[in-house]
Amino acid sequence: MFSKSFNRYEHRYWSIIGFFIFSLAFFILLKPYLGPLPILNLKLSMNTDITVQPIENTNTSHISSGEVIETKQICNVSDPKFDFCDVEGDIRVHGKSSTIFAATSQMGDFVGNKSWNVKPYPRKKDQFMMGMIKEFSVNAISRREEAAATPPPCGINHSVPAVVFSVGGYAAINHWHAFTDILIPLFAASAQFQGEVKFLVTNLEEFWIMKYEAILEQLSRYEIINIDTEDQVHCFPHLIVGLQHYKELRIDPLTASKGYSMKEFRKLIRNAYSLKKLTAIKIGNSNSQEKPRLLILTRNASRRFLNVNEIAELAKSMGFEVVITEALTNLDKFSNIVNSCDVMIGIHGAGLTNFVFLPNNAILIQVLPCGGFEWLASNCFGDPALDMELRYMEYKIKEEESTLLEQYPLDHPVFKDPHSIHKDDWGMFKSVYLDKQDVKFNVSRFKDTFLEVLELLHH
Ligand SMILES: *[C@@H]1O[C@H](CO)[C@@H](O)[C@H](O)[C@H]1NC(C)=O
Ligand SMILES: *[C@@H]1O[C@H](CO)[C@@H](O)[C@H](O)[C@H]1NC(C)=O
Ligand SMILES: *[C@@H]1O[C@H](CO)[C@@H](O)[C@H](O)[C@H]1NC(C)=O
Ligand SMILES: *[C@@H]1O[C@H](CO)[C@@H](O)[C@H](O)[C@H]1NC(C)=O
Ligand SMILES: *[C@@H]1O[C@H](CO)[C@@H](O)[C@H](O)[C@H]1NC(C)=O
Repeated sequence: MFSKSFNRYEHRYWSIIGFFIFSLAFFILLKPYLGPLPILNLKLSMNTDITVQPIENTNTSHISSGEVIETKQICNVSDPKFDFCDVEGDIRVHGKSSTIFAATSQMGDFVGNKSWNVKPYPRKKDQFMMGMIKEFSVNAISRREEAAATPPPCGINHSVPAVVFSVGGYAAINHWHAFTDILIPLFAASAQFQGEVKFLVTNLEEFWIMKYEAILEQLSRYEIINIDTEDQVHCFPHLIVGLQHYKELRIDPLTASKGYSMKEFRKLIRNAYSLKKLTAIKIGNSNSQEKPRLLILTRNASRRFLNVNEIAELAKSMGFEVVITEALTNLDKFSNIVNSCDVMIGIHGAGLTNFVFLPNNAILIQVLPCGGFEWLASNCFGDPALDMELRYMEYKIKEEESTLLEQYPLDHPVFKDPHSIHKDDWGMFKSVYLDKQDVKFNVSRFKDTFLEVLELLHH
């Protein structure tokens, strides 16, 4: 039953993708990977047509002497969401022509060379957006044939590994995408190097690097290299191209390096911004008169809280200290504001991504506007919140609490059958439900939610 309705949503939303690039509104939606692909177990082979087949992560090949050699695929382009290469050897990167050469014995003793075209941004299915991402050609040469090949000579030798990734696409325009598409997958790929790794960034946006600088500095001790403009050949002993994307704002426990999880990611975030508060308040735990702090996260263009002062008054009367603010782009400042709070409430939107700064055990309350936001809500924030050791609640507004009621009668399909309105067209969904809807809480109805929050804060 659950999986049936989930799939229905998933199919419904999947086809929506693709219209949204210039909008600050926000969406996700990648069709989860549903079934295993056939796995070919390739032993050492003289067959050269095997370049892009999925094979097992490592397999051991027996050479006649009985000696066992570990082999590992260089690029895997069979995942529906991302392309990913991980190669060790003599690796040379010519940025200006987006060409990578790798002399390696990683795949064993293959004949000839193998090459892959890889776009290092993990939303492969979104063809419109991927059209803006730079493509790299990765060429692997077997060690045996290295002498015959003529890779360009090294201009700069580096002694540490590097990761190639793009910060173009949606990451450049949306805080949620920045974390789910880049920062978290980048953490999963590079935390293993403990700072001894260089980032080769393509589609570089200066403001993006500056905005997330504190996080990037935790991951790499070196200056970021804008690879697109590099005419010198940079040489590395180990190169990762692309980022592996698991679920939104989460880390795959199976492929993440060293078994890192969101727990370690949150630790890194705390270090990056010197966040002081580790755990949310526990009411009744001490004699202190400290009050739980509530952050009301507002938006000022769409999906606004129209009676934010009334909500704040209610909260104060129930014993909260209240902070009302929009999401700020200065993360040094804003991360500390969020971290100082025990509860955060906001309407579905990218600003909620700031929940990464909340202390453990804090409560996120996501407000769901009218229009069938359930799947988006849990996929974007609800499920990730649990992985981050937060507690999660939803407040689904009633028609009376939506300004859509000023535009449509109560029996209109806008309320009764949202799908018949947007028909899987993201642009339509956005214009009706995201851009033209504000909310006005019925505070006597909402009061129950605050009561629940207070109850939770006792535990
Ligand atoms: C390649 O990716 C597919 C899909 O994610 C995965 O099932 C497979 O195990 C991967 N192969 C290797 C060699 O990592
Ligand atoms: C790889 O092989 C192709 C054709 O088989 C050749 O054109 C290319 O130069 C080779 N690349 C390298 C680096 O040897
Ligand atoms: C880089 O290292 C290679 C091999 O160790 C060496 O031949 C080459 O001269 C070095 N190049 C530079 C620019 O240091
Ligand atoms: C919100 O308001 C501030 C100033 O009051 C403005 O600078 C900012 O651009 C506004 N944000 C949006 C999304 O309109
Ligand atoms: C507000 O909520 C209360 C409690 O749920 C309900 O009795 C009341 O009718 C609601 N008011 C409006 C205007 O819908």
